[in-house]
Amino acid sequence: MKRLLAAAVAALVASPLAADAPMNWLDPDGPVAQVQKDVFMVTFWVDLGIFLVVGGMLLYAVIAFRARPDDDGSPPEQVEGNLRLEVSLMAVSAVLLVIIIVPNVRGIFYSAAPPADAVTMDVNVIGHQWWWEVEYPALGVKTANEIAIPTGTAVVFHLSSADVIHSFWVPRLAGKMDLIPGRVNEMWLQADRPGVYWGQCAELCGVSHANMRFRVVAMAPDDFDRWVEEQSAAAATPAPGTLAAAGAEAFVQRGCIACHTVRGLTGAVGIIGPDLTHVGSRLTLAAGIVDNDDAAMAKWISDPEAIKPGNIMSAQGPMYMDPANALSQADVEALVAYLRGLE
Ligand code: CUA
Repeated sequence: MKRLLAAAVAALVASPLAADAPMNWLDPDGPVAQVQKDVFMVTFWVDLGIFLVVGGMLLYAVIAFRARPDDDGSPPEQVEGNLRLEVSLMAVSAVLLVIIIVPNVRGIFYSAAPPADAVTMDVNVIGHQWWWEVEYPALGVKTANEIAIPTGTAVVFHLSSADVIHSFWVPRLAGKMDLIPGRVNEMWLQADRPGVYWGQCAELCGVSHANMRFRVVAMAPDDFDRWVEEQSAAAATPAPGTLAAAGAEAFVQRGCIACHTVRGLTGAVGIIGPDLTHVGSRLTLAAGIVDNDDAAMAKWISDPEAIKPGNIMSAQGPMYMDPANALSQADVEALVAYLRGLE
């Protein structure tokens, strides 16, 4: 038990210091996360000071005034009504409160909206059990589970939900904000350097809550413009006779189109699941759970329940509900070839 406890404490202390901790909010990489961390640190140091002073005095009193064998049991000399002491205690408390309040209020206003002179961009994010729908209203781009943003731009997120309450969290870029059905919450963040930032749903939203992740990919503005151009294009049509062409046909015939949109593929206009027009260009599958490669795509298509328990595809897709409709090995291979080619 002692050894287990020691291991737990060591892990807790070491985790924020680990070099490969992609969700370490103590290592901020954007102005919003930096301001929020600064507020935390000021509060932390003030609280630590109070704890040491109060705890120290308590410890001193407990040791210095402990019961002794020759005590006669009568109460010690009583002290009351020291005006100077009481006023100075109130003054110290007030000063400490001001030290905490000033950066807090400043941080609240800073986090609420980007500075007036900032370059801004709007992104809509809609939470689903258990994935993220992403829209760029001004750019005509729609994607899922991966949010490309240009560096040096204040990205304003308009957050809502299609089902239950979720929470949008990119620890190294900003604090959390809930996605609530029937309303739109706003928050903003900014990345100053190109990089891949991990995101995670931070509100218990069902069995696969822990599997509801995403990535924010910060790119230099030129790279972002190129990304927008690629994402705006319709999906590539595979050459006739190829495995990918067979996959496109299976995508239509087996009913994938009922839930997924692939712009450029006739009939593929479903909106229940993620837009797959450029799924091949994404870093991950199943909302940040597995890397996007052939093996993972094959596993996801053939047995989604194994990767993300409770997902709607395995619960409501006809090919997963009834063994008579199950995808054949050939179907899976063709679908992998088609979808991985949608870059
Ligand atoms: Cu969505 Cu937890």
